[in-house]
Amino acid sequence: MDVLRIKGGKRLEGTLEAPGSKNAALALLSVVPMVDGVLELSNTPEVSDVRIKTDLLAEFGVKSTWREGSLYLDTTGLHFAEPDESVVRPIRTGFYLFGPLLARFGRAVLPMPGGCKIGARPVDFHIKGLRAMGASITMQNGCYVGSCSRLEGASIYLDFPSAGATQHLMATATLASGITTIQNAAREPEVLQLADFLMAMGARIEGAGTGTITIYGDGLLKGINHRVPSDRIQAGTYLLAAAITKGDITVTGILPDQQVALIEKLRECGITVTEGHDWVRVQASDRPRQVRVKTVPYPGFPTDLQQPFSALLTLGHGSSVIEETIYEQRFGHVEELQRMGAKITTNGRYTFIDGVEKLTGASVMASDLRAGAALVLAGLAAEGETTVGNIHFIDRGYDRLVENITALGGDICRVNDPGRQVAP
Ligand code: EPU
Repeated sequence: MDVLRIKGGKRLEGTLEAPGSKNAALALLSVVPMVDGVLELSNTPEVSDVRIKTDLLAEFGVKSTWREGSLYLDTTGLHFAEPDESVVRPIRTGFYLFGPLLARFGRAVLPMPGGCKIGARPVDFHIKGLRAMGASITMQNGCYVGSCSRLEGASIYLDFPSAGATQHLMATATLASGITTIQNAAREPEVLQLADFLMAMGARIEGAGTGTITIYGDGLLKGINHRVPSDRIQAGTYLLAAAITKGDITVTGILPDQQVALIEKLRECGITVTEGHDWVRVQASDRPRQVRVKTVPYPGFPTDLQQPFSALLTLGHGSSVIEETIYEQRFGHVEELQRMGAKITTNGRYTFIDGVEKLTGASVMASDLRAGAALVLAGLAAEGETTVGNIHFIDRGYDRLVENITALGGDICRVNDPGRQVAP
């Protein structure tokens, strides 16, 4: 199996253009069955989650081609299918095809989704919303089986502002007849980005990016050329790389407005952050100060940066506390960071960190995507060599990680290590 080998202690410096967003791209790909013709998605990140999603779309006859950094999707040969568990289970957003398939074919059969093991991650809000739109959905042999004669606009209230349920229901409603409102909708930038995409293809949506979204159901969407927006989480990870290596990194192509929680927490740590219209620069020269962090839905501190931020705080002054309110099991990084000398423990949804002066290189294993990112950051700052295993998790969401870190002056390479096992 491949591993990442990192020689720590180098100060990372330079400028990096943020790659395309994994989560935005996955949301755009979910609506492909509702599109008529050919779509071009430029700036699509070349990460494994996107490849898995295009493999899943292929089951329905969607042809995907990569050309000069763009992903082309041709729906001319679209047909109904009942994909096998093996193509749906690896990613959670495989399930977000359910509504679009119902809207297009009047039926859908999909196995329960999987994804990183960071909590229970049910899809009850999705099911409730689709039922409100008139779908009949049952569970048979581990698969959701849905049917409808025509989806109808509905009034939907989400018990929690779920990014995925908001995206899934908003997209599906564009093909329902009549008006749909989603109350307590997620305000994540990826929701607004999906709405922009749907509107560019002919949908009518109001209020995306706020807590109430109104969708005016209409006909099929028309294929367009569209640029996948930049990834705020990959961007945030590189900004944290500057902070943890006492470096100086500018990430371009991002909106500082979408990074407010991270920027303000870094400033609270005593780290210098400057920003312009479409860039953020982090300059660090000292260990971070202790802080309290609580993950909450956007615009609060993102759960996807909780583990990478923990890595930074292991090298802080004093005692920091992180409360994870979104996922009950997003703590796979903790034990691995302990191997590197971090004083970090968890209790329930809390992580307690007593900052140490230095981390030391060790052999560690990623348990999920962002835990992997946390271990890479720790490895970059640690004394000596760190080997990160299970990097298929990191490949899910970081585009050209090794090349990017190398360009910033880090010493990292991907090597084959046949002795390392992949965790289940
Ligand atoms: N939830 C339910 N029922 C549902 C849907 C969600 O209880 O039907 C719960 C979840 O279990 C979780 C909370 O609501 O506790 C939030 O989940 P949400 O639906 O907002 O998350 P998601 O759409 O499944 C996306 C990102 C995640 C990111 C979250 C929050 C994608 C592909 N994934 O997940 O990204 O953490 O929003 O911002 O867009 C990652 O990139 O590492 C990642 C996990």
